[in-house]
Amino acid sequence: MSGAVTVAPRRAGLRWWAPRAAFALVAAFALIQLVPYGRAHGNPPVRSEPRWDSPRTKALFAQACGACHSNLTTWPWYSNAAPVSWLVQHDVEDGRARFDVSEWRERPQPAAAEVAAVVRAGEMPPLQYRLIHSEARLSSAQRAALAAGLERTFRASPPLHVVAHGGDDG
Ligand code: HEC
Repeated sequence: MSGAVTVAPRRAGLRWWAPRAAFALVAAFALIQLVPYGRAHGNPPVRSEPRWDSPRTKALFAQACGACHSNLTTWPWYSNAAPVSWLVQHDVEDGRARFDVSEWRERPQPAAAEVAAVVRAGEMPPLQYRLIHSEARLSSAQRAALAAGLERTFRASPPLHVVAHGGDDG
């Protein structure tokens, strides 16, 4: 056995595999675009809003939270391509289901204390969203202002139905 005999098949293998693997990836990407989930990027109508305590609170909320907790989502271009579209769709649906300032009276909302707490702790917006959206990375001063503003907003116009704790403990 010479060295050439052992090397040649390995090279041929790579030459055989690389274009096929690339083609399979492209084909898979094209195929998953056919899955309907994640393509219906609707914004349901705004049915009722809280009486915001100030334009600042409303603006900070729109900037950091509105994409997933209102019906005024700006769907970015990358939200149209699977698999990212699936993740975005899921975040928006799950977020709206728990807390939606565009269906303030129609849906159960979390308690003011819970909302203020997640803002102060920096738990919301979720990390994957903050990584992509620089405007959603609030400073500690902005977080403090948003949390206090949300508390005042909840006091001034309480939701009709409040969920004491989130849908799960996670
Ligand atoms: C990228 C979408 C997204 C953004 C932006 C976002 N959230 Fe959320 N939020 C979610 C999702 C999804 C959940 C449910 C899963 C979870 O708790 O992690 C949630 C859960 C919550 C809950 C818990 C609700 C409950 O009782 O179950 C609160 C409160 C909340 N978000 C507040 C905020 C606030 C305030 C902001 C802005 C500072 C914000 N979120 C920004 C997606 C988002």
